[in-house]
Amino acid sequence: MLINEGNTNVFIVTDAVLNKLGIPAKVTDYLDAKNISYHVYDGITPDPTFNVVEEGLRQSIAANCDAIIAIGGGSVIDAAKMIAMSQGNKCKPQQLIGILKARKPSAPLYCVPTTAGTGSEATLGAVISDDKTHQKALSIDPRMVPLAAAIDPIIMKGMPAHITADTGIDVLTHALEAWMSANASVETDYYAASAVKSVMHYLPLAYKDGGNLKAREEMGIAAHYGGIAFNKAGLGYVHAIAHQLGAYYSIPSWSC
Ligand SMILES: NC(=O)c1ccc[n+]([C@@H]2O[C@H](COP(=O)([O-])OP(=O)(O)OC[C@H]3O[C@@H](n4cnc5c(N)ncnc54)[C@H](O)[C@@H]3O)[C@@H](O)[C@H]2O)c1
Ligand SMILES: [Fe+2]
Repeated sequence: MLINEGNTNVFIVTDAVLNKLGIPAKVTDYLDAKNISYHVYDGITPDPTFNVVEEGLRQSIAANCDAIIAIGGGSVIDAAKMIAMSQGNKCKPQQLIGILKARKPSAPLYCVPTTAGTGSEATLGAVISDDKTHQKALSIDPRMVPLAAAIDPIIMKGMPAHITADTGIDVLTHALEAWMSANASVETDYYAASAVKSVMHYLPLAYKDGGNLKAREEMGIAAHYGGIAFNKAGLGYVHAIAHQLGAYYSIPSWSC
């Protein structure tokens, strides 16, 4: 898709852990083979702040990149969404906080999720932490939804058991909160129920044996379905509490 769209210089957003594990290399090897140039930024931290987003934006503009690929969990994908939207709108990421703040489309954004958790690759929001106010700031805009996502169980098979469990419970929470939402519909119930069934069956399998590719794939799809469900139906009290505690004490949302 990237090639069909004519992108020739790609900005890769990831984190240092994933870069050390060689996960982005699975994508960059392909780009090398296709003679597509790229610049890797691995500065994203869990629960990314405006500082790391601004640094990514600065590097993407300096490298004159025409598309962005996020390779990581929800933290990387959210940061990449903000970099892409800020680049497309020629604005600071802070100006995009709120609902429908963008005036122009995002720079082209593609995602490779490495956790089966947030479903951020399917959603129209991004969460950025403000380390000064200790609040999580939300940007919501349909233009933020990535153009495409590659859900690849091979990329997820090395995920440690505790991250598999924690992010998998995030999927369950998304699906249950969307299911119980007053804004739920037949469509969102379908995705939420599918995600719940998959988590109940496949999360214990993926936890026990990270190399079980069937379980990894089903969890990747469940995370995506959870994202589709809450994207329209919304979330509930668990996330309302988790966002406050997470922002204040810098603990991941699934630990709250
Ligand atoms: N935009 C949305 O729709 C949405 C929804 C829910 C949560 N979020 C946000 O997503 C963030 C959390 O994302 P997350 O739960 O995916 O975790 P994460 O992206 O913060 O990653 C957690 C840790 O796991 C590591 N990791 C990720 N994939 C790995 C792999 N395959 N192998 C080994 N290590 C790996 C990362 O390096 C990191 O240290 C939070 O900031 C939250 O606010 C966004
Ligand atoms: Fe969540």
